[in-house]
Amino acid sequence: MAFPKVNPTQTEAWKLLSTHFSEMKDMKMQDLFSENPSRAQQFSITWNDFFVDYSKNRITEKTQKLLLQLAEEVQLKEAIEAQFSGLHINETEDRAVGHTQLRNFRKLPKEVAEALQKMKSFSEEIISGNWKGYTGKPITHIVNIGIGGSDLGPDMVCEALRYYKNQLEVHFVSNVDGDHVMESIKDLDPETTLFIIVSKTFTTQETLTNAQTIRNWFLEKASEKDVAKHFVAVSTNLEAVSNFGIASQNMFPMWDWVGGRFSLWSTVGLSIACAVGYQNFEDLLKGAHEMDIHFKETPFQENIPVTLALLSVWYNNFFNAESECIVPYSQYLNKLVAYLQQGIMESNGKSVDRNGNAIDYQTGTIVWGSTGTNAQHAFFQLIHQGTKLIPTDFIAFADSLYANKDHQNKLLANCIAQTEALLQGTYGSEVENNFKNFEGNKPTNTLLIKKLTPKSLGSLIAMYEHKLFVQGIVWNIFSYDQWGVELGKKLAKGTLYAIENKNVTQIYNGSTKQLLKKL
Ligand code: F6P
Repeated sequence: MAFPKVNPTQTEAWKLLSTHFSEMKDMKMQDLFSENPSRAQQFSITWNDFFVDYSKNRITEKTQKLLLQLAEEVQLKEAIEAQFSGLHINETEDRAVGHTQLRNFRKLPKEVAEALQKMKSFSEEIISGNWKGYTGKPITHIVNIGIGGSDLGPDMVCEALRYYKNQLEVHFVSNVDGDHVMESIKDLDPETTLFIIVSKTFTTQETLTNAQTIRNWFLEKASEKDVAKHFVAVSTNLEAVSNFGIASQNMFPMWDWVGGRFSLWSTVGLSIACAVGYQNFEDLLKGAHEMDIHFKETPFQENIPVTLALLSVWYNNFFNAESECIVPYSQYLNKLVAYLQQGIMESNGKSVDRNGNAIDYQTGTIVWGSTGTNAQHAFFQLIHQGTKLIPTDFIAFADSLYANKDHQNKLLANCIAQTEALLQGTYGSEVENNFKNFEGNKPTNTLLIKKLTPKSLGSLIAMYEHKLFVQGIVWNIFSYDQWGVELGKKLAKGTLYAIENKNVTQIYNGSTKQLLKKL
């Protein structure tokens, strides 16, 4: 089985979509709804506790047919099979892409099952207070030290599942900004704090610097032999972990076939298991696995990630929309967008295709957003009346966790009213002046989920993972590498040398040199 490498613009479907776009570009969704009373049912999908309404998009049956034809011509089915079969589809790093294997409890790889078992017993020890710090006190605070995929996922999930949290306080230190680390630890007590150093490579400058600073701070009060009671690490690089002074029983293995931005399902999720308990962590994984099955086995027309991805391609490549907005109507999800930004933009920010050629069409979308209703009072003006087309995902939960009906009704009313306003605008009604005119016709997807639980959260995250994978397949790019972040890391060594040694002789650019001299 080979991984497909089809230039999408050379497909028959792309040509047909280009022609179809000229018919669609001035089409009003308001009219499409009037003409077709069953449009809402026709363009919606019900799956488990999810209801996805994508009828408020600038599409017709023909658009959908052509987008599905595009999926077929770029061999999406084959690509999905290749990913799930363990083929080395991350070709530029010669690795398989196995994050879905981490959550397939019917067929867990042996090393994953063992690691989960270790996470379970470790988190239980910490939560129950059986694990004692160096002065015999139980752990009350946990600090996750990591960055990128070793920080954003666990941080986002701990926040999203706050309702399910136990007594432990969890903090996240990521930035190499020393003020971040000092603010994070200043009120902590070394006697009752556990530090989890998370780094897939264990070479990341930010993480190692923060870990070293925290270790020194810890040793101001404690001694070397106490480190084993307060420092654990998650990494693929067990040798470097050992060199850092972490005892072998405190190492949690990670695997190179799990990409950093897809790693919260692995031992990288140790802080999640501690914060909400292992069972909730397992439910998160199970929810993700259910979405994996849906993605793998559902015909594309009824397939949520495939549908959302194809819509995104339609706007990105034909309407030239530059960005997509995501607005979860749940304060618990206030870190979701930052998390998805890494997943989506690190994966699909590419301009070379899978054959190694420069690309002459648009790829990765810019993703942004924040929680509703707050976002309505911040940037929604631009989505309603600005000059840019910004397809927006609205995510809402039917039931609130504290069952406060008054608030929940108002929250949902706002969410749904916004999608209606973006669609309808003031179309067909008299307006006082142009300033008060709303064109409407702005595309939205509404994801209505029964309730925010570890399981539904797992499904939601996996849905976006698969969506970005499908987009990458259509754009014929490798979504699982991230070479673009390497050059900056390399150059930072030279700029650090210049700052530390007050020596800019190795810096050649005039602007860079001037900036360094200013310091
Ligand atoms: O700089 C990007 C990146 O490589 C991400 O892909 C990764 O999630 C992050 O750095 C952290 O890497 P590590 O877990 O190896 O410290």
